[in-house]
Amino acid sequence: MSPDDKDIEKNAEESEAKAATDDSSVTDDSSPEAKEAAAGDETAEKDETAEKSSARGEESAAGEGEKSAEDSPDGVEEEEEEEEEETAGADDPPATGPAHEGEELYGLLAEFKSPGDLVSAAEKVRDAGFTRWDCFSPFPVHGIDPAMGIKMTILPWIVFAIGLGGLGGGLLLQWWTNDYNWPWIVSGKPFFSIPANIPITFETTVLASVLATFFGMWALNKLPQVWHPFFKKDRFLRVTDDSFFIGIEAADQRFRRGETEELLNNAGAEAVERVYIDPDPAAKKMPKPVLAFIMVTSVLALVPFALVAKARADRSPDPHVHIIPDMDFQPKAKSQTANDLFYDSRASRSDVTGTVARGELKADDHFYRGIKSGQWAAEFPAQFDVSQSTVERGRNRFNIYCRPCHGADGKGGGMIHRRAMKVPQQGWVQPSNLHQANIVRQPHGQIFNSISNGIRTMPGYATQIPESDRWAVVLYLRALQRSQNAPVDDVPQQNRKDIR
Ligand code: HEC
Repeated sequence: MSPDDKDIEKNAEESEAKAATDDSSVTDDSSPEAKEAAAGDETAEKDETAEKSSARGEESAAGEGEKSAEDSPDGVEEEEEEEEEETAGADDPPATGPAHEGEELYGLLAEFKSPGDLVSAAEKVRDAGFTRWDCFSPFPVHGIDPAMGIKMTILPWIVFAIGLGGLGGGLLLQWWTNDYNWPWIVSGKPFFSIPANIPITFETTVLASVLATFFGMWALNKLPQVWHPFFKKDRFLRVTDDSFFIGIEAADQRFRRGETEELLNNAGAEAVERVYIDPDPAAKKMPKPVLAFIMVTSVLALVPFALVAKARADRSPDPHVHIIPDMDFQPKAKSQTANDLFYDSRASRSDVTGTVARGELKADDHFYRGIKSGQWAAEFPAQFDVSQSTVERGRNRFNIYCRPCHGADGKGGGMIHRRAMKVPQQGWVQPSNLHQANIVRQPHGQIFNSISNGIRTMPGYATQIPESDRWAVVLYLRALQRSQNAPVDDVPQQNRKDIR
């Protein structure tokens, strides 16, 4: 509990105690009438008797009300009428009918001096069982929620439900578009899979939740409400400055005019005012300047769309308006475009015939192409080091580039092949078993060439794997082949007994 809270509680306790001593003579909320009212099952008849029996309370409340009526210009006439009525019948039972002929009572507005008074009064109103009432203060008052008996809002549950809807909707959308309405094979991936759909599902969930929160808040608070009878009271204007109010609506089931006024007075109200609904329908309309502002801004908001629509329909020789040009327009030739400078009008130029960029002279046929004196080279090139470390390098590259198709053992059963067997596609050729005799017999240079340029349906890997690594793969492949077809002489003498 923060020190503020403690202060307020202390205040509340004090004012409660004060209220109890001050008004000990007056019937408080534990009176039989109040109890009856709290029971909430009265008939209309009983209502009337209750109202009469609390007439005394009503009188005193009206007395308080008069003071305030004087400084509200539109309240003066109305209240005067009442005053006459009540002074005339000071000793008689006062009239209980509505003083404002033809005007509907909206509710009671009670002013309090301090936040502490407000909190303790709110507790009393809460305990009397009212439901349609509210507290008004210039700033958030600590402890007012429990004092008013405000329950936790149901908004989170609404948001949860609608958020779930967004989640389901997002998944459904992706299933419908990707799997049902327009299935499209992308790298043999499944059409519908949860991990791939998480981002959009996340977004739709957030979107639905945000909208539910925003509009749910408005709906639960019954907003927008552009008018309120309390605003007609000058006294109420100080609610944004230094005054605290409780407003109880006449529509509340527990509401009995006199009795409720008395309750508020007993709760320590500075003043209690009756607030009537202005019968003029114009009072419930949105103020003209606000309406004008909304209309003007709505129309202005359409202007960009109108401009876009116009631009789409128009033809113009001018380029698009480019607000921030950055380096978008440069006097240079872009690739794959036409350029009149050259006789063949191509902006992309090939190398001038016969030129070689530095370090690009690949004259060594053996190393770069696997060819030696017009034949596939049977040995490794001189600059390639045949050693344990290059075999390891070859294994490493093989596992990256070849294993997905040919499999770790080189028999042609890699993951891509296994996947291709599951997906209904035509034209898939199984990767070769690299232990086939005809491949085992191939010279190193021929294998090197298959890796570099591909073979039949297998793509070339020259752009991904540099030459020295290609030779390392060939070396590893040789080791792999030998592992499957090793002659018994390859096995060290002491291990031969393990062979079965
Ligand atoms: C995308 C799958 C794929 C990858 C990756 C792949 N291959 Fe192949 N490879 C194939 C297929 C398919 C064939 C059979 C082509 C045919 O017969 O049309 C093949 C055939 C071969 C052959 C037999 C060539 C012949 O003369 O018959 C060799 C050798 C070979 N691959 C080596 C490799 C090496 C080494 C790598 C790694 C650098 C590699 N492959 C990566 C799919 C692949």
